[in-house]
Amino acid sequence: MKKHLLTAAFAALLLTPTFQASAVDLKHKGFECSTCHAKGFTAPDRSTCLTCHKSDDIVKATERFNFTTSFTNPVTGETKTSIAPVNPHDNFHFGRDDQCVNCHKEHKPSTTTCQTCHDIEPWGLKAPR
Ligand code: HEC
Ligand code: HEC
Ligand code: HEC
Ligand code: HEC
Repeated sequence: MKKHLLTAAFAALLLTPTFQASAVDLKHKGFECSTCHAKGFTAPDRSTCLTCHKSDDIVKATERFNFTTSFTNPVTGETKTSIAPVNPHDNFHFGRDDQCVNCHKEHKPSTTTCQTCHDIEPWGLKAPR
C-alpha cells in the first residue's frame, strides 16, 4: 500500500511539468516555448520580441494615436498647435524604449500601462493583443 502511494506521488511529480506546459495559453499559436524563453520561464526582454517585430513597423502602426492640440491666444489671435505623443510604441515618457511585456502579455489578457495614471479613453487606446 505504502509503495503504491509513493509510486503515485512520483508519477504526479513527473507529470506536473508536462501538464503545465500544455495548459499554458498562447497568443502566438504553435510557437515553441523556447522562442521566447531561451533563458528560462521569465518575462522575455524586448530584444526577444524585436527579433521578429521591427521597431519602425510597430511605431508606424500606432502613430495614429498621437493627436494634435491647438491653443488660440484670445488677445493676439495667434494659434499654436502641438502634438501629444501618446503612441504606445514611441511616446513622451519612454520614447521607443518601453518593455513590451509591460502591456503585451502572452498567457493572460494584455493591459495598457498608461491608464494607471491617465484617462486614456479620449486617446482611444485600448488593451492590445
Ligand atoms: C519568432 C518570431 C516572433 C517573436 C519572438 C515574437 N513574435 Fe509576435 N508575432 C510573430 C508573428 C509571426 C505574428 C503573427 C502570427 C500570430 O499572430 O501568431 C505575431 C503577432 C504578434 C502580435 C499581434 C499582431 C497583430 O497584428 O495584431 C503582437 C501584439 C505581438 N506579436 C507581440 C509580440 C511580443 C510583445 C513579443 C515578445 C514577448 C513577440 N510578439 C515575440 C512573430 C514573433
Ligand atoms: C504602453 C503599452 C505598449 C507597449 C509598452 C508596447 N505596445 Fe505594442 N501595442 C500596444 C497597443 C495599445 C497596440 C494596439 C493598437 C491598436 O489598436 O492598433 C499595440 C500593437 C502592437 C502590434 C500590432 C501592430 C499592428 O500592426 O497593428 C505589435 C506587433 C506590437 N504592438 C508589438 C510590440 C512590441 C514588440 C513591443 C516592445 C518593443 C510593444 N508592442 C510595446 C501597446 C503597447
Ligand atoms: C511569443 C512569446 C512567448 C512564447 C512563445 C511563450 N511565452 Fe511564456 N511568457 C511570455 C511573456 C510575454 C510572459 C510574461 C507574462 C505573460 O505574458 O503572461 C511569459 C511568462 C511565462 C511564465 C511565467 C509566468 C509568470 O507569471 O511570470 C511561464 C511559466 C511561461 N511563460 C511558460 C511558457 C510555456 C510553457 C510556453 C510554451 C508552451 C511559453 N511560455 C511560450 C512570452 C511567451
Ligand atoms: C506613473 C504615472 C504615469 C504613467 C504610467 C504614464 N504617465 Fe504620462 N504623465 C504622467 C505625469 C505625472 C505627467 C505630467 C508630468 C510630466 O511632464 O512628466 C505625464 C505627462 C504625459 C504627457 C505629456 C502631456 C503634455 O504636457 O504635453 C504625455 C503625452 C503622456 N504623459 C503620455 C503617456 C503615455 C502614452 C503613457 C503610457 C505609455 C503614459 N503617459 C504613462 C504620469 C504617467
